[in-house]
Amino acid sequence: MFKSKFLNDVNLQDKHATYTLNNGVKIPVVGFGTWQVKDGEEAYNSVLEALKVGYRHIDTAEVYRNEESVGRAIKDSGIPRNEIFVTSKVWNNHSSYESAKEALEASLNRLGLDYVDLYLIHWPNPAHTRPNNEQRNRDVYRALEDAYKAGKVRAIGISNFMVHHLESLLKTVTIKPAVNQIYINPTDQQEEVVLFNDKNDILTEAYSPLGTGKIFNVPMLEELARKYNKSIGQVVLRWSLEHGYLPLPKSVTPSRIKENLELFDFKLDKEDIEKIDKLHGTFGSAPNPDTKDY
Ligand SMILES: NC(=O)c1ccc[n+]([C@@H]2O[C@H](COP(=O)([O-])OP(=O)(O)OC[C@H]3O[C@@H](n4cnc5c(N)ncnc54)[C@H](OP(=O)(O)O)[C@@H]3O)[C@@H](O)[C@H]2O)c1
Repeated sequence: MFKSKFLNDVNLQDKHATYTLNNGVKIPVVGFGTWQVKDGEEAYNSVLEALKVGYRHIDTAEVYRNEESVGRAIKDSGIPRNEIFVTSKVWNNHSSYESAKEALEASLNRLGLDYVDLYLIHWPNPAHTRPNNEQRNRDVYRALEDAYKAGKVRAIGISNFMVHHLESLLKTVTIKPAVNQIYINPTDQQEEVVLFNDKNDILTEAYSPLGTGKIFNVPMLEELARKYNKSIGQVVLRWSLEHGYLPLPKSVTPSRIKENLELFDFKLDKEDIEKIDKLHGTFGSAPNPDTKDY
């Protein structure tokens, strides 16, 4: 069974648990996802609710078009800025050093923040950059490195990078990526990328940890939920944590927002983790960034 090295010294019975990134920065082990959360009331209310029930890590992106509402909720929560970990991401239309620099400034403006805790290249192979995506990634990443040096971001990384994208990028970086945010839930565990990340001290964040809602139809998970007296969502998010991933559940429903953070008062038996591992390939898979049309 895969266990990330990032789990060393992490107490998963502690609801304030953090992983330590490769530059020493601490990151709360669960983040609140905001993809498909509508700008305005929906994003504002759900982020505010998430912060109220205890999340201290919010995942947004330029392309989610909700940074302004996310930023307002962060401000209105009254929680000190340095107690909240905020991630944003540079989108595919930014293909040069300058453009990526501007994208970060624009995100900071929308969020109303002086810095973000983590800034990621969202996608490794935008369709319009093919076949020159390697150069694009190098240029954009250099902008992230400079932003890091200027104190505008506390950590930098990538998202949706497969092993060959990473191998290419790592040849020229001067600051190692701290995070690779990828699609991970029981149906696609991306073993090759996960092992590569871990070997290179890159934390694996698990996006779509609930399969964008698809895991709720798996009967075996219902049985496990009954066994642990937890919900299916909680069992699957705990499974993600026990492997040492960092799940980013999204919900706009207050009861679910709360439920998805109640993960620290139980643990899964090894054989149940292995049972869930066997769901690999059963109901969905990660997008392939080399063939998508964006
Ligand atoms: N880097 C990337 O390219 C990338 C791509 C995709 C996602 N992400 C990140 O990962 C986050 C999560 O992924 P995701 O948005 O695909 O979805 P997800 O978290 O896997 O699943 C969200 C769906 O499950 C439902 N849900 C949540 N908790 C539930 C519960 N306890 N019981 C029943 N249903 C529940 C939600 O419904 P309601 O909202 O209606 O409650 C929503 O329909 C994103 O929001 C984003 O921050 C990143």
